[in-house]
Amino acid sequence: MNDLLARTASHADAYLRDVATRPVHATSTSAELKAALGGSLGDAGEPPADIIDRLAAAAATGTVASAGPRYFGFVVGGSLPAATAADWLVSTWDQNAGIFALSPLISVVEDITAGWLKSLAGLPDAMSVGFVTGCQMANFTALASARHHVLRESGWDVEAHGLAGAPPITIVTSDESHYTIFMALRLLGFGAATARRVPTDGQGRMRSDELGAVLASTSGPVIVCAQAGNVNTGGFDPIDEIADAVDAARQSGDRAVWLHVDGAFGLWAAAAPQRAHLVKGIARADSIASDAHKWLNVPYDSGVVFCAHPSAHRSAMSLAASYIQATAVERDPHEFVPEESRRGRAVPIYAALRSLGRTGVGDMIERSCRQAGRIAERLSAHPHVRILNDVVLNQVLVRFEPDGRDADEVTRGVIAGVQADGTCWLGGTTWHGMAAMRVAISNWSTTDEDIDRSADAILRVFSTSS
Ligand SMILES: Cc1ncc(COP(=O)(O)O)c(C=O)c1O
Repeated sequence: MNDLLARTASHADAYLRDVATRPVHATSTSAELKAALGGSLGDAGEPPADIIDRLAAAAATGTVASAGPRYFGFVVGGSLPAATAADWLVSTWDQNAGIFALSPLISVVEDITAGWLKSLAGLPDAMSVGFVTGCQMANFTALASARHHVLRESGWDVEAHGLAGAPPITIVTSDESHYTIFMALRLLGFGAATARRVPTDGQGRMRSDELGAVLASTSGPVIVCAQAGNVNTGGFDPIDEIADAVDAARQSGDRAVWLHVDGAFGLWAAAAPQRAHLVKGIARADSIASDAHKWLNVPYDSGVVFCAHPSAHRSAMSLAASYIQATAVERDPHEFVPEESRRGRAVPIYAALRSLGRTGVGDMIERSCRQAGRIAERLSAHPHVRILNDVVLNQVLVRFEPDGRDADEVTRGVIAGVQADGTCWLGGTTWHGMAAMRVAISNWSTTDEDIDRSADAILRVFSTSS
């Protein structure tokens, strides 16, 4: 085992040394990867070291260097050294983190980490916290807790009786809610198409005045889904104003109204003093969904859900069984998540936060935002490049508009060209009917030099294509 782990560590070291200098895209084709890794499963087992060598060789060219400093696609973080190392320990310990009796260590680490996360995000310490696979499951868990709460307030036990015959719940989203909100609504039996969609402004932010009108036009229980950090623009719904509208609806209608906020990456603006104003009012939310594998830079998979109503959270997620040994005073992690058996997902977050400290987390968030501003400035200095969004966070939308050519076509061509070039990687989107390049900066190891090299590569590809 010692030799195997040492060998694995040396492969990991080689991979991480390479990740900042190799082409960012994968250089193996799927056929090559299948040839290197596939074939029929042999009757006899193989030596573990050979298997590890085979995987490591394939990873050198078959992975995307998304853990590296010039990956700006989707919203993808890297992994801080302490987080990667802690994640190895989690695999080594092989703890089932479902209940305290199965792993006191994981239960305690979850408790401590939950407290630190709440403190970094400026959330009340009384909120309950669940560690899930990602923001999709955080949205699901939060909305399941919301469903429980608003129906219980209406005298209905949804866990026992389901939704058939239940008082109807109005779901309110915005035009720009992330698609995982709608997936959560589907999984919870609400249907994705039933939501009342509040219009947004030019930056994709929910219009709180319109929300007030929607709430005034409905009766009965409501779940409002707001967003902290639009996946295209980085824009924030005005959470404080939305919370005011929610309070007004509660008071005027004497009805249950739940405010959920999807803050997959935007929540962590709260940790940077220069950006914290963007999430003003977040502590008034009933639930918040977020990710750690994006901007907190821990390995996949890692999401977090916060809930201001611990008993609703628990009721929505837990189900007793005669052989499951619950503890009266300690944290049984499964009570806050949809899964039962699960890994100790909080441990890498614990290590990441401890390695950075409070100031370090804020600096990391602020650095990404500053770098988003830097690349926007570099690119927009070109007369035929337009930045489509207000760069308030870590997201930049770029459009290429040479005279006399179809800007959609050129923009898509530049995106494909940059992906093939390999200096950096970024993806595309459509924003208000216009093709745009998305730049999302959320890696702890990105330097200003990486930003400048990437801007040079993007402009080089643009100049050869126009
Ligand atoms: C605003 C928002 N919500 C939810 C998600 C889903 O997160 P995950 O892929 O971690 O489930 C994302 C992912 O980019 C997002 O940006």
